[in-house]
Amino acid sequence: MNEIIVSLENVCKIFDGAARVTALDGVGLEVPRGQRVSVMGPSGSGKSTLLNIVCGLDVPTSGRVLINGSDLAAMSDDDRTRLRREQIGMIFQTFNLMPTLNGVENVALPLRLCGMSGNEAADRAAAMLERVGLSGRGSHRPDEMSGGERQRVAIARALIFDPPLLLADEPTGNLDSATGDEILKLLEDVHNEFGTSMILVTHNENAAAICERRIDLLDGRIVSDTLRSPK
Ligand SMILES: Nc1ncnc2c1ncn2[C@@H]1O[C@H](COP(=O)(O)OP(=O)(O)OP(=O)(O)O)[C@@H](O)[C@H]1O
Ligand SMILES: [Mg+2]
Repeated sequence: MNEIIVSLENVCKIFDGAARVTALDGVGLEVPRGQRVSVMGPSGSGKSTLLNIVCGLDVPTSGRVLINGSDLAAMSDDDRTRLRREQIGMIFQTFNLMPTLNGVENVALPLRLCGMSGNEAADRAAAMLERVGLSGRGSHRPDEMSGGERQRVAIARALIFDPPLLLADEPTGNLDSATGDEILKLLEDVHNEFGTSMILVTHNENAAAICERRIDLLDGRIVSDTLRSPK
């Protein structure tokens, strides 16, 4: 079986602001289910734009995006929102947690938004926090946690629906190297346990090394695409 979880067909993204910027320029990419892909390239090369387009937060100017064979542009807004919530986990350099909610509440939020009861959502969130190695910090708010702890909460939140695809935008960018390596180890464990496909945007060679495939972007184009055995 060689199911394709993400397929980009000749994707272009032009931002027409004060200046016209071609952020993606004819990107074609197929990611088989279970594969981990690192995306590297200089600042401004289109990495974050690529992730935003894969998750449907942004739409391409031209070209097609298919997730699990479904064309994002052909879906209703509701279906696209559901797909993004349930099929795609996202983690960011700056964690993007809700500052007024504690750890358990942050992880439970996507479940609550789907109508799950508070108690059930909190139980599931606490179990996921334990899974990412954070059982003792669930009652802390983000400002009462270290950077590494915040990223674990964000990963627990991203995994709460057991999504087949995880997108990460510089997940270790705000962490010291030892803490960053712990987060990478956690992402490796997640992949090994759940078979999660990952697209990992990074400037960090250690992060790229957990991926079996590496793509380099330059000026919105894929300039190299290499497969190798992961570390
Ligand atoms: N909303 C926007 N409006 C106009 N231009 C944008 C917008 N978002 C991104 N761009 C431009 O598109 C290009 C690609 O941006 P993108 O954020 O994808 O780069 P990146 O590779 O993620 O960079 P970094 O490593 O600094 O995060 C840049 O030239 C950027 O200025
Ligand atoms: Mg970026």
